[in-house]
Amino acid sequence: MITHRVSNQEQGQALAAELFVAASNQSPQHPVGLATGNTMSGVYQQLVASEFKPRFAHAFALDEYHGISPTSKNSYLNELKDKFAGPLSWQGELHAPGQGKYATESGNSDFESGLRELGPVSVQLLGIGVNGHIAFNEPGSDFESRTRKVALQEETMRSNAIYFDDPATVPTHANTQGLATIRQAEMLLLLVFGEHKKQALLKSLQSPDQTTPLAALIDHKNLVLVTDLVI
Ligand code: F6R
Repeated sequence: MITHRVSNQEQGQALAAELFVAASNQSPQHPVGLATGNTMSGVYQQLVASEFKPRFAHAFALDEYHGISPTSKNSYLNELKDKFAGPLSWQGELHAPGQGKYATESGNSDFESGLRELGPVSVQLLGIGVNGHIAFNEPGSDFESRTRKVALQEETMRSNAIYFDDPATVPTHANTQGLATIRQAEMLLLLVFGEHKKQALLKSLQSPDQTTPLAALIDHKNLVLVTDLVI
């Protein structure tokens, strides 16, 4: 693992945007892997500010709430259109598990086939949850897991509730790339900012086990961590 220590989140997001551009331009024939959430919003803003012109034709989202309308403001697909595809005027194809052509019985295995045919992903953006989740792979997830429907843990539903007008409507399930799916990317770009994430990161690095999903990725040949934490 290569670690880049930065002084603050904004500096880290700018560096991540640069690394993302370099890695995706190196293999423009391959798709990129996108994530959502606060950490990534700043990265997408930096890409837009730098007038990045994506050369890849496909992007795969890490995860999406199960059964959510793709036009809901809480849909991750919608968030990626809003913060990434739209502002960058990117016309490529955005693949999200459980959405569009993947909203079928065989959707998650079709998503895996899509990744296999178009992959490997050149660079996968990754954040980490306060409870250590990676995408929607909650603590305890199988390290060999593939794209699948999962139940969300209480803590994840609680922290995501702030984004919903009515907290009672937070979905209980999601479709997520598995840890083995994520591991297939050529480069994993993991961004961890803020003291509230420190415990999750430290636990994954110091006592990796089944309860720390990041442990499934730690031996990846090209894992790059950008953080403002002293670890
Ligand atoms: C979202 C995702 C999640 C987030 C994580 C951190 O696609 O994969 O694992 O990366 O929940 O979210 P933020 O950045 O909002 O703290």
